[in-house]
Amino acid sequence: MTSGSGEAPPERLQKVLARAGFGSRRVCETLISEGRVAVDGAVAELGARVVPGRSTVTVDGVPIGTLPGLVYYLLNKPRGVVTTASDPQGRATVVELVPRAPRVFPVGRLDADTEGLLVLTNDGVLAQHLAHPRHGVEKEYLAELESSPSPGDLRRLREGVELDDGRTAPAKASLVGERALRIVIHEGRNRQVRRMCDAIGHPVERLVRVRIGPISDRSLRPGEWRHLSPPEVRSLSGSPGAGSRS
Ligand code: URA
Repeated sequence: MTSGSGEAPPERLQKVLARAGFGSRRVCETLISEGRVAVDGAVAELGARVVPGRSTVTVDGVPIGTLPGLVYYLLNKPRGVVTTASDPQGRATVVELVPRAPRVFPVGRLDADTEGLLVLTNDGVLAQHLAHPRHGVEKEYLAELESSPSPGDLRRLREGVELDDGRTAPAKASLVGERALRIVIHEGRNRQVRRMCDAIGHPVERLVRVRIGPISDRSLRPGEWRHLSPPEVRSLSGSPGAGSRS
């Protein structure tokens, strides 16, 4: 229900926190009493009320979504599906693989040729947080290469390689098969892993994202999705209150 202005009515802060996955209302009251929650920049008091969608609520300095009806999906994107809401060329899109309502959007992107884990949500606060380079969440990929990189090639990936849009940050890189590379990056540049592998002379044949921050799921088959659990959502937003599941 909304008020005459179209805004949601004020709600108790602990209710909003509980909905965002911070635990029972009792646990959320404790978070507030400990001074870890702020509303519009000021440390919140127990009993505070907030206007979902208007008030800015942070826990340990990290903004959280306040609106009801927020959903978070983890999709295993198959090859050939594009990471947009609609494709002018009529290709299948990731939003067609998850429930139609409420409308969600992908957080970050995977190339059409790339497979693997992608988060979709209607939580603009989380999406913005994740998109900010300062919060660079680790992303882990398995890449099948056309040829076998040498120890020197791997060192180049670890030290950062020069691309046409600048040098990459150091990556974690290791061989897990003759031509199979495990690589972890925390930047989100366009076609970054493919371009890094091109730069060391070993183009990618197949690329799969297997982890986003602490979130991985080997049981999710291509085209399948599941809801993220509240602790997973919290861990993505980088709240120190969230348990790491790596
Ligand atoms: N790096 C790539 O090259 N492609 C992706 O889709 C993601 C990371």
